[in-house]
Amino acid sequence: MTLLSQKGDSIMTSDEIREKFIKFFEKRGHKHIPSSPLVPENDPTTLFVSAGMQPLVPYILGKDHPEGKRLVNSQPSLRLEDIEEVGDNRHTTFFEMLGNWSLGDYFKEEQLSWFYEFLTKELGLPKEKLYVTLFEGGDGVAKDEESAAIWKNLGIPEDRIFWYGVDNNWWSRSGTPDNMVEGDIGGPDSEVFYDFGTKHDPKYGKECHPNCDCGRFLEIGNSVFIEYKKTKSGLEELPQKSVDFGGGLERLAAAVKGDSDVFAIDLFSKMISDIEEWSGKKYSDPASQPAMRVIADHTRASIALVKDGVLPANKLHGYILRRLLRRAAVKMHALGSPVSKVADLVDEKKAQDVIGEELERFAKSLDRGMKEVGKIKKIDGKIAFDLYQSYGFPLEITEELFEEKGQKIDHKQFEKEFKKHQDLSRTASGGMFKGGLAEDSPATRKLHTATHLLHQSLRTILGKHVEQKGSNITSERLRFDFSHPKALGQEEVKKVEDLMNEKIKEGLPVTSRESTYDAAIKEGALAFFGEKYGDRVKVYSISPSTGASTELSRMSSGQVFSKEVCGGPHVDNTKELGHVKITKEESAGAGVRRIYAVISDK
Ligand code: SER
Repeated sequence: MTLLSQKGDSIMTSDEIREKFIKFFEKRGHKHIPSSPLVPENDPTTLFVSAGMQPLVPYILGKDHPEGKRLVNSQPSLRLEDIEEVGDNRHTTFFEMLGNWSLGDYFKEEQLSWFYEFLTKELGLPKEKLYVTLFEGGDGVAKDEESAAIWKNLGIPEDRIFWYGVDNNWWSRSGTPDNMVEGDIGGPDSEVFYDFGTKHDPKYGKECHPNCDCGRFLEIGNSVFIEYKKTKSGLEELPQKSVDFGGGLERLAAAVKGDSDVFAIDLFSKMISDIEEWSGKKYSDPASQPAMRVIADHTRASIALVKDGVLPANKLHGYILRRLLRRAAVKMHALGSPVSKVADLVDEKKAQDVIGEELERFAKSLDRGMKEVGKIKKIDGKIAFDLYQSYGFPLEITEELFEEKGQKIDHKQFEKEFKKHQDLSRTASGGMFKGGLAEDSPATRKLHTATHLLHQSLRTILGKHVEQKGSNITSERLRFDFSHPKALGQEEVKKVEDLMNEKIKEGLPVTSRESTYDAAIKEGALAFFGEKYGDRVKVYSISPSTGASTELSRMSSGQVFSKEVCGGPHVDNTKELGHVKITKEESAGAGVRRIYAVISDK
């Protein structure tokens, strides 16, 4: 398909933009690393990967990355904070983040110059349309004069440089320095905005500026200078200074197209035209546009989640997937199409099956909801919110129903209920962050090692068909999913547990070394099938330190108990685990079993 810019010339596709970005940074010494799954493998502090830097936190903190100090990739990301904003020209929950990193290597000068070069030379964006924002200083951190001088040198005049405080130009996963939890990292950033030249809407303030919400400006990239870590006593300088750059592919594509609507880019065009066809409504119609955007974004996010193994459920990841699908379905309904049509937007078989089944069930619940609505004599904000909560009815739809009866809904009351609920869910997700970056705590180390012991014990007791299907570790317990056709008997559970404890008692050293992925697999290391690995990987072995001289010969003589491709962290010796206990065995889907285990005193 040839895309046309507003001027009518053919323009780059999103795929081409991604490729250019990766190549550009590869040419400047960066290694292209694979993206991580959307659901973080071993990070109990967060539900989804929402930024490319997330899986790299240990390396930004100083751990050696096997691919070196300069990395580049493209990371699917999900951000739910903005879910209520989806429907305008620029907000999406799901997006692809192009990222480049310096892990204690280059800093501001190279980063800003390279990104500027990429935008103006590679993407051909007119330089007079680029605005930059900088950190004005605060919380004991100085104004970023250094970056300002670099931008000016590159040709960005003073009147296109804007200064903001911690709310806009400080980045950490938890926001401002005040909100950062102990262990969180962050720093001042410099964002680049594209000016689409649309007229300022004074509804959003007297003067327009890059962070104004009127829609004239779109943020297309953010260079974060990670220099600080939050500690008990405040911000502390990190021993190494790192760069974390992230730019939304969809937004860069919108800038290249010269159209401030991110939903007008190639990645959405098929979905939008299908929805237009089925509903008989036009995307250009302001009455239908927000609904179509919600459907397209939420369906795209849902496809990505299903691809990463998430299934609709009533809690955590599965709940989010369910919520996204229901919101898309209600909008489809509002456009006058059957809700099941959402599944027809999906072009991948497995995702289509999962989404289709979920929507079939939801269609029934929607019918029941409609009947409830029929019974309500007098609507108010609280009832409207209950309908929203229980059946996913958005306020506009309820309003439309009741308008015929001449009844109005008190928006303030609805919002009050809404806010109450939002505060509650924020507290819940805040709770996840409060655990801090638990990846390196002694408890999680033990459970990582216990997971390897469990994996191998299952294979020894049940057979080689056992393969890891998923793993999740919190500081309290491990959860391990694996392929096995039927429930384990009590005897089998006991045998597995006994074997793990035997290996703990033997006090086996846990060692690691680097290898190429292919070589590791060739010599029998286990790897998690659903995970993508880079070329160079870490292989963890649990084996007696004496005996045959090379790992290979020990492996063939059966002395290496476990060998897995894994990022760690692990304990040094299995005896540190003390004792493990399997607390639960259950089904995790067709042909998949799930085991929970804890470190116990015995
Ligand atoms: N971490 C920054 C962001 O998410 C830049 O990658 O915006």
